[in-house]
Amino acid sequence: MEQHPAPYPHQPAGGASQGATLPFGPASPWLAPLAGFSDLPFRLLCRELGAAVACTEMVSAKGLVLGQGKKTSATDQLLATWPMLPPVTGSRNVPLPFAEAPERFPELLDRPPPADLPLVVQLFGAERSYLEQAVAMLRERGYIWFDLNMGCSVPKVGKSGSGSAMLKDLQNALDVAGSMIAAAGPGRVGFKLRLGWQAGEEALPEIATELEKIGAGWITLHPRYARQGFSGNADWQAIATLRQHLAIPLLASGDLFCAEDGLACLEQTGANGVMYARGALHDPAIFRKHRDLWNQAARLAGASARSLCSQEEEQALLRETEDVIRRHAQFARAFMPPRLNRQGIEAGLLKMRTFVPRYVKRFSGARSLRQALTRCEQWADLEQLLAAFFKNAAVTAKASEELCFNPQSPHPPTDSAADG
Ligand SMILES: Cc1cc2nc3c(=O)[nH]c(=O)nc-3n(C[C@H](O)[C@H](O)[C@H](O)COP(=O)(O)O)c2cc1C
Repeated sequence: MEQHPAPYPHQPAGGASQGATLPFGPASPWLAPLAGFSDLPFRLLCRELGAAVACTEMVSAKGLVLGQGKKTSATDQLLATWPMLPPVTGSRNVPLPFAEAPERFPELLDRPPPADLPLVVQLFGAERSYLEQAVAMLRERGYIWFDLNMGCSVPKVGKSGSGSAMLKDLQNALDVAGSMIAAAGPGRVGFKLRLGWQAGEEALPEIATELEKIGAGWITLHPRYARQGFSGNADWQAIATLRQHLAIPLLASGDLFCAEDGLACLEQTGANGVMYARGALHDPAIFRKHRDLWNQAARLAGASARSLCSQEEEQALLRETEDVIRRHAQFARAFMPPRLNRQGIEAGLLKMRTFVPRYVKRFSGARSLRQALTRCEQWADLEQLLAAFFKNAAVTAKASEELCFNPQSPHPPTDSAADG
């Protein structure tokens, strides 16, 4: 394997008083921003399984600024973190069951959750003043690291000129970036880019080198055009090319479906690190497998993908998945507001109903479990379903295909991605 730059913590300019550093390096995989998924419970789970850094779901800068002073909102929920940050005057934290009554969660007192740190807050928006104010507000609340979404291609985000639509107006993108950096401090803001709006309208390397000049802390590249959505393959060669133009850390994102993909991408591109997105949604243990693989201690990593061979490995995969789901459920109960929907179902349980089918895709019986989950209304129902499922589950013959899409393979990714 090629030599990579040593893992290095990125120290922003500004001295010790600004304190924290972010880990960038091949042994420090990040959890990508994932709208609808990278909430507090999932971040805690991924951190426990080896994610070095996690990003929040994208947060609207305008929504945050205009929502100021209102009682806790959906935006506040996106920003919920642990340990809780002290509320600033006029605001209050989202109620987290674990913070309010820790004795109700003996399993978490016995095995404490990791801290949700370091945390990168991902913002979206195209208006300079909102982004600047949003960063200032968040800094006041105690958040340190920020990322600007310049990659999301869903129309809902793009219609306001945000997300990947920013790549159509690079001057505005730089103005917005400059004001965020001024509000956060140099080195504290990353930018998540795509190749450009569409083929023939390349934004790279210029936008990235300009961002570096004005104080960006790092760049993340998902090497597809905005118009591509998730179609075609991520162009890892574009990551390798951009690496030649930058001195700041470059994170690779795109078609990293298993730890082997992450390592291959590092090797082929020379990127400083990787960010797992869909790979983590299917297998949050991808972070540990990545680290194991990097450290050549791949005892379980082999079970992650293309070589499910022995019965012991299959059993280990089943046990690991069951543990992951139970731990995720513990976090979802303890760290989601105990809000009920119209049918009286808790928000955390509803979230688990969307995650579990992803985790069990590679096992027999996954389809019936998915159907049964739609009727699951209480935590006890989930527990019963899982117990019955794991009693009989086995790894399907197609597991390696389903678990790890080869970037060059014809299998389409199955997530109907909210974004990119
Ligand atoms: C369900 C889903 C939600 C996403 N949400 C965001 C988001 O909020 N912000 C963002 O910058 N990228 C978002 N992305 C893009 C990912 O962070 C990542 O760049 C992309 O999925 C490519 O990585 P992958 O091919 O390894 O999944 C999302 C992707 C998916 C699948």
